[in-house]
Amino acid sequence: MSKHLIAPSFLSCDFGRTNEEVKYYNQSNADWYHLDVMDGRFVPNISFGFPIISSIKKLATKPLDVHLMIVEPEKYISQFRDAGADNISIHAEASHHLHRAIYQIKETGAKAGVALNPSSPVQSIFDVLEDLDLVCLMSVNPGFGGQKFIYRTLQKIKDLKAEIISRNLDVLIEIDGGVGLENAEVILQAGADVLVAGNAVFKSTNPYQTIDQLKAIEAVRSFD
Ligand code: DX5
Ligand code: ZN
Repeated sequence: MSKHLIAPSFLSCDFGRTNEEVKYYNQSNADWYHLDVMDGRFVPNISFGFPIISSIKKLATKPLDVHLMIVEPEKYISQFRDAGADNISIHAEASHHLHRAIYQIKETGAKAGVALNPSSPVQSIFDVLEDLDLVCLMSVNPGFGGQKFIYRTLQKIKDLKAEIISRNLDVLIEIDGGVGLENAEVILQAGADVLVAGNAVFKSTNPYQTIDQLKAIEAVRSFD
């Protein structure tokens, strides 16, 4: 049985009621809070930055999983850590010196993650895999919530999982974009450890129940 984690993506929250949203999800069985930072350059959208993360941190009882969709992420890593990030994921496509940037994250004490766009092969990060706590595979083109899951991601999850297992590494695979009750089982079966869910949770009529349903899925996995 897989013990996967659920990370609601606050991009889909009601930002006029951010405090209430955080308090609400504190009472849920969610594991992490996924926070999407967008700069209007790496992705065609702008979301939020340090002040919002700091204010969420003041109330949050779960780890903050910060996904940076920004160019030159290495310039801001320590500020995101100071704002309250527990996990910091940077995009492989956004950093010329990914190995150095990963160590910058680790030096802050945060868990280090690398995110990959749908068009980037998982093999492109195999040389830094042992330095990572987390790989965030994008299953939509980053920038917006509520998009359709790209099914090619399933093969990428399998390839990445096989590599992690063959090298006996302790790296979590997080899947971000278009994840919901209709596809969570096959995603977990392929080898995912963390499911990010924005619209599937925040637009649900009963978010607690949706989180519980996502957590209750028992995918058959030969590698657990
Ligand atoms: C997309 C973000 C995702 C997004 C997921 O760029 O990285 O975290 O909020 O939202 P859903 O689950 O609605 O696709
Ligand atoms: Zn994200």
